[in-house]
Amino acid sequence: MAVLNPFSLSISITFFLFCIFSFCKAKDSSLSSPTTSSDVQLLLLKIKPLLQSNTDNLVLSSWNTSTPLCQWRGLKWVFTNASILSCSDLSSPQWTNLSLHNDPSLHLLSLQLPSANLSGSLPREIGEFPMLQSLYLNINSLKGTIPLELGYSTSLSDIDLSYNLFIGVLPPSIWNLCESDRLVSLKLHGNSLTGSVSEPALPNSTCKDLQFLDLGSNKFSGNFPDFVTGFGALKQLDLGDNMFMSTIPQSLGELKLEKLNLSHNNFTGVLPFFGESKFGVDAFEGNNPGLCGPPLKSCSGNNSSMSSGAVAGIVISLMTGAVVLASLLIGYMQNKKRKGSGESEDELNDDDDLEEEIDEENGVSGSGSAVGGAGEGKLMIFSGGENLTLEDVLNATGQVMEKTCYGTAYKAKLADGSTIALRLLREDSCKDRNSCLPVIKQLGKIRHENLIPLRAFYQGKRGEKLLIYDYLPLRSLHDLLHEIKAGKPVLNWARRHKIALGIARGLAYLHTGLDFPITHANVRSKNVLVDDFFVARLTDFGLDKLMIPSVADEMVALAKTDGYKAPELKEMKKCNSRTDVYAFGILLLEILIGKKPGKNGRSGEFVDLPSMVKLAVLEETTMDVFDVELLKGIRSPMEDGLVQALKLAMGCCAPMTSVRPSMEEVVRQLEENRPRNRSALYSPTETRSGSITPF
Ligand SMILES: *[C@@H]1O[C@H](CO)[C@@H](O)[C@H](O)[C@H]1NC(C)=O
Ligand SMILES: *[C@@H]1O[C@H](CO)[C@@H](O)[C@H](O)[C@H]1NC(C)=O
Ligand SMILES: *[C@@H]1O[C@H](CO)[C@@H](O)[C@H](O)[C@H]1NC(C)=O
Ligand SMILES: *[C@@H]1O[C@H](CO)[C@@H](O)[C@H](O)[C@H]1NC(C)=O
Ligand SMILES: *[C@@H]1O[C@H](CO)[C@@H](O)[C@H](O)[C@H]1NC(C)=O
Ligand SMILES: *[C@@H]1O[C@H](CO)[C@@H](O)[C@H](O)[C@H]1NC(C)=O
Ligand SMILES: *[C@@H]1O[C@H](CO)[C@@H](O)[C@H](O)[C@H]1NC(C)=O
Repeated sequence: MAVLNPFSLSISITFFLFCIFSFCKAKDSSLSSPTTSSDVQLLLLKIKPLLQSNTDNLVLSSWNTSTPLCQWRGLKWVFTNASILSCSDLSSPQWTNLSLHNDPSLHLLSLQLPSANLSGSLPREIGEFPMLQSLYLNINSLKGTIPLELGYSTSLSDIDLSYNLFIGVLPPSIWNLCESDRLVSLKLHGNSLTGSVSEPALPNSTCKDLQFLDLGSNKFSGNFPDFVTGFGALKQLDLGDNMFMSTIPQSLGELKLEKLNLSHNNFTGVLPFFGESKFGVDAFEGNNPGLCGPPLKSCSGNNSSMSSGAVAGIVISLMTGAVVLASLLIGYMQNKKRKGSGESEDELNDDDDLEEEIDEENGVSGSGSAVGGAGEGKLMIFSGGENLTLEDVLNATGQVMEKTCYGTAYKAKLADGSTIALRLLREDSCKDRNSCLPVIKQLGKIRHENLIPLRAFYQGKRGEKLLIYDYLPLRSLHDLLHEIKAGKPVLNWARRHKIALGIARGLAYLHTGLDFPITHANVRSKNVLVDDFFVARLTDFGLDKLMIPSVADEMVALAKTDGYKAPELKEMKKCNSRTDVYAFGILLLEILIGKKPGKNGRSGEFVDLPSMVKLAVLEETTMDVFDVELLKGIRSPMEDGLVQALKLAMGCCAPMTSVRPSMEEVVRQLEENRPRNRSALYSPTETRSGSITPF
């Protein structure tokens, strides 16, 4: 997904299940300790040396193993069980306890060293502390860029890096911190950050808890960051003293802002209406002379009969033309829509007694009840998951593999050394039990060579939902196609054909091989794992049926950004086998052309693969669209089924749904048009594993 998280963080799943969404305020003594985390080590080895340049910093010198932890300056600690290490009482044994350094259940909670004469850089490892909530390093002389990894933190809520010497762009990953609704305050005032402010990866992000955003006195340029108007909880916004140049979106007036500073930029156009004399001239001064509207000069100069600012604003818009009016109306409609979806989320989030039903209906979950006596959640086991116990799952140590709009995927190690894949669904993303449970049961029954099996389902006592899958140490098709890495197998046409056929078979099985057919609903190269023999396995199928509409629709929005969305698909509940076929068509084009569809990279350029092919056909340069790597060893594109595959992909992407083939038809055509000379293509020099499997 767009927010793929390559960063690995060692966390305890036990801790995570209970604390991820609740800021660990709740105390729970029944938890076991993690075995791997060592924040003290990280602090001494990575953070301390980087925060200071070559000269030793006085404050940081207190971070040493001959000093008790409580006397290390600028730090607060918390135990895995959420109780805070109390260092305030100088007569308590904690104050002088030297063995606290070695307590693996102790984690860094806050790092606050304002005005500490720090002159190094911001270490990227800051993102690795599993419970770090606040980071205050304001008023220092820290240099370099703000590392991308900061945005991969699972817990940061307050960040103040104001008044340092930071340069470079604001890393786009920073908005990842919005995802689990933890980011409350982001202050970067008084640095030398440049470029335009990057957008959140998820469209229409609301960053629900963000109240303070201060990007003032930097060197940001470009347009007003429009997405900020979607941050409904924002109270203070400072964009002053930068180099922004554009109009200011009218919807900014709809936020309940208490403080605002847009001064000393190059903003122009009509100011939004914020309310009668809410902000003074100093919030807007020093901009383009074209900036007008109260409290600045009036825009037309002859509308003195207007007494109320609101009326004036609207009339001015009418006078300046239809375009402004239209954008006002759109802003209004969007705001209504946003409010509407917020309400439905609350109503649907009532599934307290799902676990009871699981218990009643599932005789196999004996292992769950064996350890679940203390009111812990229940484990629902499916075929192949019989060896899993609740204890195993809860004590697993996990690594974040990927974060999406609907949850986070972990690679988790069990005590016996084996590994499983977990997907923790986002707290408010799930439907009520009546619609959720039958879907889970259905997903648990699906077994096919090209589909990753669901082995178990866990429902925690606080409503956390965890899907447990086989872990396969495989690369995603996305990485195989688009990542430049040494040691990657050559993807010739025979291999790509085999991958495509596997995907098609998996989808055909979902559409027609089950008693109750389902749709995948999230077909994309990131959801295809490929093994050493180029067998493709699909993940994340059918999850849309577990989501409340607003989250499911975020998946649609993401599919649109990534270029896999069928043109007719407006909301996820309308998804069907034909929309899967469309997404498969894009995926097949991606396999053939080797280019990533949808919005690409920093530039945000949208790659429309079907149009690219159409253009090439018109210009009679069809052969040029194929990936060069794929053409290796191809003698006749016709005889090798290449051209047929391109036609097939274009058929799948037909704008008219009735024209698209079924997945069964796709499988048939791919089987009919295989690459001719397969053995030659599997030559030993091109095979990483040296193994050749029959088709
Ligand atoms: C949490 O753990 C620490 C040390 O492991 C212990 O001292 C403390 O009493 C525990 N607190 C609670 C509330 O269980
Ligand atoms: C360790 O910290 C103590 C307390 O701040 C300080 O007095 C001492 O010099 C430090 N030792 C080293 C080796 O930095
Ligand atoms: C010192 O801390 C360790 C680790 O948390 C703990 O096991 C030990 O009981 C503490 N000692 C005292 C005297 O509090
Ligand atoms: C601040 O750090 C510099 C070295 O980076 C040092 O020379 C200076 O004395 C320090 N100032 C204070 C007040 O500690
Ligand atoms: C401000 O923007 C205008 C165009 O809107 C441009 O012509 C002008 O050069 C800009 N001024 C500065 C100081 O960048
Ligand atoms: C707005 O920001 C400018 C430049 O940073 C500052 O001089 C001014 O005092 C601020 N005004 C308000 C109202 O905060
Ligand atoms: C996001 O906003 C755009 C308009 O800016 C709208 O068309 C789209 O439906 C929204 N997406 C979601 C998931 O709300």
